[in-house]
Amino acid sequence: MKILDQPEESAPPGSAISYAGLIEKIEILRSTLRWSSKLERPEIEKLLRQASSLRDEVMQLSHKERFVQAAGAEPKRVDQTPGARRQGLLERSFIFEGTFGDNPKLLEALEIAEKAAPTDLPVLIDGESGTGKELMAKVIHANGSRGDKPYISVNCGAIPDNLLESELFGHKKGAFTGASNDRKGKFESAHTGTIFLDEIGELPLTGQVKLLRVLEAHEIQRVGSDELIAVDTRIVAATNRNLRRFCEEGRFREDLFYRLSVIHLTLPPLRERRDEIPLLLAYFGDEAAATLKRRPVRMSPRLRDFLKNYDYPGNIRELRNVIYRLACLAADTADLEHLPLDIRPKSALSSAMNDAQAPGGGSIVATSLSEAKRTASDEAERAFLERGLQEVGGTVAELARRFEMNRSHLQMLLKKHGLHSKDFRAAAAQRDKEA
Ligand SMILES: Nc1ncnc2c1ncn2[C@@H]1O[C@H](COP(=O)(O)OP(=O)(O)OP(=O)(O)O)[C@@H](O)[C@H]1O
Ligand SMILES: [Mg+2]
Repeated sequence: MKILDQPEESAPPGSAISYAGLIEKIEILRSTLRWSSKLERPEIEKLLRQASSLRDEVMQLSHKERFVQAAGAEPKRVDQTPGARRQGLLERSFIFEGTFGDNPKLLEALEIAEKAAPTDLPVLIDGESGTGKELMAKVIHANGSRGDKPYISVNCGAIPDNLLESELFGHKKGAFTGASNDRKGKFESAHTGTIFLDEIGELPLTGQVKLLRVLEAHEIQRVGSDELIAVDTRIVAATNRNLRRFCEEGRFREDLFYRLSVIHLTLPPLRERRDEIPLLLAYFGDEAAATLKRRPVRMSPRLRDFLKNYDYPGNIRELRNVIYRLACLAADTADLEHLPLDIRPKSALSSAMNDAQAPGGGSIVATSLSEAKRTASDEAERAFLERGLQEVGGTVAELARRFEMNRSHLQMLLKKHGLHSKDFRAAAAQRDKEA
């Protein structure tokens, strides 16, 4: 029987053992154990020694080494300028449905994605909301050997607990009330392709146990069925949570975290890659012009200045939305007054207030000032809700969760402003179709 080809002694100190390599060795050990019908005592002892030496090696790798080395065996090319690294990615026909510049943090994430793509190793992507995690998951899928196979996205935060198992693994007819037919789950649909587990940090602990089982056994069981179905699915997960902290707090299983994060990449927030902003402004300016069938909108210098220095808590998604808004509202040249009220600089707000005053000047009585305040506050509220709905693709339950608001109160506010969630769902579906 073939156990492990590698020599049994542990590697000499200082040798570069990658975390990915270690995981692979552990997998070989596991399948040896799983598939062997009978093992002799010396073989068992040998396997146990190998297991314990592997465990020591894993323990010795610092977190940093794990993540960096997992990106590939190649040493980092420190001599290359960011421009050359960017050019290198483009020349190697790296598929990226977006734009990127010379920012070293982003380049690092892209280079990791490039190296991870052709493997089947699980990837965990983290980063603030709107930093491009989903886009990155698609990039990893598109650049790998499964690029022409299914890519199935699951939002773990949006599935009610009682439907989770059926959603992920499918069910048999009659398994529970309402299960009127046999149904495939997401894992089966993603067979031979990639499954994207979005918002993995929201997965309840019960779901985490079930997911761990699939990751270990590569097989699933539909709810209500005894049959084991083998699934060959590459896993990419994403979160805007700090999963390491979640593990410490007991909200996320540590074993699942390590299973998912063989390759771990972090997308920097936009405020840490400001040098990319001009590129993104041009990119989305052209995209918005094409979508709205208009000439690209020009920007006043003070607006451009603002957009280059703004903090973008909603990251790239927020920048994109702002540009679409400008392209929709401005005639030829956009200015500060076209910005959403909640981010508009104070100076522009007060000049807008002045513009709103009665034409002949006249006395501003208390009632008109309070009227002006109310209008401004209403407008800010509406813009806030509108932006939120755009970000969640029109799902009110999700928006209520994000805003930590009571759902019926949120429904009431939407009604007050005449905002219809279905319009945003339709717009999101349209965007997905175009993407
Ligand atoms: N480098 C980029 N070039 C062009 N567009 C980008 C880039 N990065 C992200 N985007 C766009 O920004 C928007 C937000 O990206 P995405 O949905 O991938 O973010 P996310 O991190 O998954 O957000 P969330 O945590 O809120 O789900 C999308 O429209 C995406 O296409
Ligand atoms: Mg996302």
